[in-house]
Amino acid sequence: MADFKDNELVNKIVANNNIVDVIGEYINLEHKGKNFFGVCPFHDDHSPSMSVSPEKNIFKCFSCGASGNSITFLMDYLGIEFREALKILADKAGISLDNNFTKKKVNSELEELYKVNELAVSIFKNNLASSSGKEARDYLKKRGLDEETIKYFNIGLAINNNISSALSSKYSEEILEKLDLCKSYDNKLYDTFVNRIMFPICDKDKNVIGFTGRIYREEDKNESKYLNTKETDVFKKGNILYNLNNAKEFIRKEKEIIICEGQMDTIRLHTIGFDNVVSLSGTSVTKEQIDLINSLKCDIILNLDQDDAGKSATIPLGDAFTSLGKNVNVIVFKGAKDTDELILKNGEDSFKSAYKNKVSFINFKLDYLKNNKNLNDAVELSKYINAAIESLNELNDEVLIELKLKEISEKYGVSISTLKSKITKKDKKVIVNTKPKEVKRYTGYQKMELRIIYLMLNYEDVIISYENNLGFLVTKEFTDFANEILEFKMKNGEFNLSNFITHVYQNNLDKILKEVMENGGPEEYTEEELDYLINIIKGTTVENEIKRLKNIQKNSLDEEEKKELARKIENMRKEVLTWYKK
Ligand code: UTP
Ligand code: MN
Repeated sequence: MADFKDNELVNKIVANNNIVDVIGEYINLEHKGKNFFGVCPFHDDHSPSMSVSPEKNIFKCFSCGASGNSITFLMDYLGIEFREALKILADKAGISLDNNFTKKKVNSELEELYKVNELAVSIFKNNLASSSGKEARDYLKKRGLDEETIKYFNIGLAINNNISSALSSKYSEEILEKLDLCKSYDNKLYDTFVNRIMFPICDKDKNVIGFTGRIYREEDKNESKYLNTKETDVFKKGNILYNLNNAKEFIRKEKEIIICEGQMDTIRLHTIGFDNVVSLSGTSVTKEQIDLINSLKCDIILNLDQDDAGKSATIPLGDAFTSLGKNVNVIVFKGAKDTDELILKNGEDSFKSAYKNKVSFINFKLDYLKNNKNLNDAVELSKYINAAIESLNELNDEVLIELKLKEISEKYGVSISTLKSKITKKDKKVIVNTKPKEVKRYTGYQKMELRIIYLMLNYEDVIISYENNLGFLVTKEFTDFANEILEFKMKNGEFNLSNFITHVYQNNLDKILKEVMENGGPEEYTEEELDYLINIIKGTTVENEIKRLKNIQKNSLDEEEKKELARKIENMRKEVLTWYKK
């Protein structure tokens, strides 16, 4: 059960945000009567079927049944967690939140692992600031990283075996090895990272899950340039995006993510004011990373290295995001291998203009396909054109396809009809951010149960009628939900739908809420309708009970029991008749 004391603050934060402003930041809302209307983002739609009620501080889609308050809207729309949504709303309302309140509750074993990594971070930071850190500090200075940047990214320094000596008295070898901070060899414990500049890597919730360490001393130049924490219980490489912990809020604000290859590119971009930036740590990308980025609901800017590896890795990444329905652009520049180098060599404006002149992914790809082809040769030209058409075929925008075909037709002298004939008309898939709709069929009385619950959510009077006349429904899960409403009203002295929605989400009852919202019918009702609903439900419940008793009666060998049951059944039947007559 949720803690009502905590929810006082949650409810205050929700109440201090007008849901029209919250949703209006993402979706065009039009004022009509006492409500606002917009196109629902939770199903594929073009007409404004989502209504937003400033009075109740909730939204509801008449078409797909999506509904909720400001918190649940942000959670579903931005793909974020409860406490993250709460943080956004608290900031908007100017209410400060205790860190513990928004920090994710994790299991205690993980918590301990994070804590040890956190300690390692402070040890590494101390090293960098200490006298043994002089050479490393000089290296960083030479690379143009100032104090603020070093602090922002918590950059530190690993020196010889100081993690093992500092932490092995407090923590077991098992933990230190589990985190890959240390390795044991011949019964002795050694540090994994030695003489490396250390970059902590966090998950999106800001837990330190691992490190990458870069060599900096001339004498180590034959070692591998970067060493990463090996795959551990907390460090799952596939899920990691360097700097997502910091970048997340900027990505949300700017509705755009810049994806780089190396962490130094992300760090350099911070120095010139780009903070919606993450690094893949190389050119290989996992499905988990793509899913993670996709869940951020933003435009994509690919900013991998300008060498062959970076350009060729841009293609599958761009394809993946395009097919997810994302708007994808690519940053292209000359004269430097990567962003870090570009900015150091040519100054921040060189990147800013590359950013401004970014190209759409399809243009980048059409250009990329020309590589290593002699377009004066008919065979190679036809290969190129076929490959280009194949890429265009993946687009969801028919106008864009036509314009691009025209371009190719004019440039290479192939008739537009020939080109068009190669475009296969298929159902262009439109990606929406909801799961496929479950088709659920309801029996007649279940529809009535949904209707009663829906009215309870909207009218306190109906909650009171339910309490006085029913107190139960037929289906168990609906009864539980109705009683949850009743209990919520009793605990709080009144029923506030927006607060109840928060409660529903915290107690994993949102599936039923959605069913109710989707199938609850119109908002208006009459007393006659309510009476009718109550009586039918009562009757159905009693009829079910009669069926159950009849069954016992049939199988009973005890004549007295049989008679007793018969009497009971008879009485129940009489009672039902009086309800129906009402
Ligand atoms: P790069 O070789 O392009 O490194 O590798 P970089 O980003 O330019 O690094 P600096 O500027 O020399 O410091 C790109 C990324 O691949 C990973 C790192 O995450 C790096 O940022 N990498 C590279 C490794 O994991 N190990 C290596 O030995 C090299
Ligand atoms: Mn570099």
